[in-house]
Amino acid sequence: MLIIRSVCELKKELSNLKGEIGFVPTMGALHNGHISLIEKSKTQNDYTVVSVFVNPTQFLPNEDFDKYPKNESNDIKICKNLEVDILFMPDKNEIYLENEPKILAPKNLANILEGAVRPGHFDGVCMILNKFFNLIKPKRAYFGKKDAQQIAVVENLVKTFFMNIEIIPCEIIREADGLALSSRNSYLDEEQKLYALKLSRSLLKAQNLINQGQVDTQMIKSEMKTILEPLKIDYIAFTNKNFQEISKIEINNTIILVAAVVGTTRLIDNIWI
Ligand code: PAF
Repeated sequence: MLIIRSVCELKKELSNLKGEIGFVPTMGALHNGHISLIEKSKTQNDYTVVSVFVNPTQFLPNEDFDKYPKNESNDIKICKNLEVDILFMPDKNEIYLENEPKILAPKNLANILEGAVRPGHFDGVCMILNKFFNLIKPKRAYFGKKDAQQIAVVENLVKTFFMNIEIIPCEIIREADGLALSSRNSYLDEEQKLYALKLSRSLLKAQNLINQGQVDTQMIKSEMKTILEPLKIDYIAFTNKNFQEISKIEINNTIILVAAVVGTTRLIDNIWI
């Protein structure tokens, strides 16, 4: 496995590759969720490139950029074990220049849910992925469904800029107790972990109600709220796969999304119905 830190070296190495590239963008602190993306890329492509870059432009000033979990040696170990071809770990100065043109996420996606709570977040995601996609030119790029709205933003980015990249959404990986894996789970102490389980439990409740024939989203939402108490709920939302709000569950075309704060840690989770 090549560990590359400079854009110049990455360009040189990529020019030697003859075949399809699968790309797994990450912010490091790799866990089983990332591992599942890398494994999928390995089965579908000739080469797999993983990036580890905590992207400053997608964090709001009051967010956790400075304390975002980092574990470079473990990230390298995991990628080596998985036989990743190139691990790209650039410094911020390699990636961002002064006086750059800016890319903004489309308003219909950027101003709702995660975008409403974290204004500007998806602009930063578009900025970094536009750079990485142009640099790496992957055939396929892999994203976890936990960041469902991010997938919609990225699909829009690829379409808008006529990029020939297939976006592959991958299933959410959970702990045995249901907690969706996230690098930010490392902020939680044991007691907070129990509270964090309320997110997946509320979604499970929603799934059970739907299995029993319930389609009224307001009714499902109020049951979910009861489970989520006393957490600070940022949103419980019911959308179709285009992220338009719905009032009745549509089987095969519904995403239920939840965001809540446990202690000082903001967590998100969702299920696709
Ligand atoms: O999902 C993430 O970890 C980040 O948003 C991504 C896609 C690596 C871009 O920085």
